[in-house]
Amino acid sequence: MQWKIPLSDIDFGQEERAAVDSVLQSRWLTMGSVTDEFEQSFAAYVGAKYAIAVTNATAALHLACVAAGLGAGDEAIVPSLTFVATANAVRYTGATPIFADIAGEQDLNISVHAIEKAINKRTRAIVVVHYGGYACDMPSIMELARERGLKVIEDAAHAVGSELGGIKLGTWGDMGCYSFFSNKNMTTGEGGMLVTNDEAYSKRLHLLRSHGMTSLTWDRHKGHAWSYDVVDLGYNYRIDEIRAALGKVQLAKLPANNERRRRLTQIYRDVLQELVPQVVVPFANHAGISAAHLMPVLLPAGTTRSSFMESMKSQGIQTSIHYPPIHTFTAYNNGKTKYSLPITEDIAEREVTLPLYPAMSDEDVFTVARAMAHALIPA
Ligand SMILES: Cc1ncc(COP(=O)(O)O)c(C=O)c1O
Repeated sequence: MQWKIPLSDIDFGQEERAAVDSVLQSRWLTMGSVTDEFEQSFAAYVGAKYAIAVTNATAALHLACVAAGLGAGDEAIVPSLTFVATANAVRYTGATPIFADIAGEQDLNISVHAIEKAINKRTRAIVVVHYGGYACDMPSIMELARERGLKVIEDAAHAVGSELGGIKLGTWGDMGCYSFFSNKNMTTGEGGMLVTNDEAYSKRLHLLRSHGMTSLTWDRHKGHAWSYDVVDLGYNYRIDEIRAALGKVQLAKLPANNERRRRLTQIYRDVLQELVPQVVVPFANHAGISAAHLMPVLLPAGTTRSSFMESMKSQGIQTSIHYPPIHTFTAYNNGKTKYSLPITEDIAEREVTLPLYPAMSDEDVFTVARAMAHALIPA
């Protein structure tokens, strides 16, 4: 399908091509010096002591859950209005994800009150998701977690570059996980990053990323080691130099691209208020600086979302849904929900995500808004 305005688009150019070419010429493709450099620049950018590059954010979340000590019999509190990877990562460890409701129409993030209600003696961790790049209430969540002795893992897949109180999202909790999937604010195709300020976590995460081995191919290539021991049950979640090279270039572009996303979001807010005031635009009073990964809106009650999206499609505009709630999936409770998540369920039925990417023009935003006004005219 040829969209007039797609949902998202990457910002790739000559710099990315040159970076990949340089790796190919170096003849070293798996984790090596470029990955080290990428990790160091990423750690410096988010203000974390340690950054560990991995294959994707799902792997990052899995490793974080393992390092947090999750296992059979444990529970971790998660939102349901997120990508399924957030909850799957908990299940990979044998632990059970417990879904908590979101705060409301204006704040699509997990509610602190709902987290508090879900805590019991089996609870070991809270996995928060900064929906669309907008910060959860981290000061309250951290206070609650510390009081109850719980670990906090941040799913910052949408939030690379977001801040709250001058602190980058992903560095508030015990461990933070980022995604560099193709539609994210910075991309390496597939890719992810874990960050932590805790040395013990960092050591364990490094081991878990590569089979629990005490030395890597790169160490042996540099002549630092002949052999290795295996000291933990690890995985192969390594990134490669090609992706790390893309990541370095994309990271350098990120601040300007996030700024452009924020500007476009503000234009959307103004224009939607003018042309379709019946549409709710969440996060109007958001306290932090968002990476503005998504442009979510809530259709007025009574609108048939599929017809709205069909009309947008016929006008050449791609829209999406974030998200079908996890607790309604067949692989979760066989579709028979035992949860009472009224806000999640209401919002999930009304949410539509509009196009947002740095190369969008101001005029594109007007085009989307005009298309929405047309799509919302009663038949
Ligand atoms: C909130 C959230 N968590 C986790 C993931 C998983 O990321 P990845 O595709 O890098 O594994 C995504 C990906 O879209 C996401 O949106």
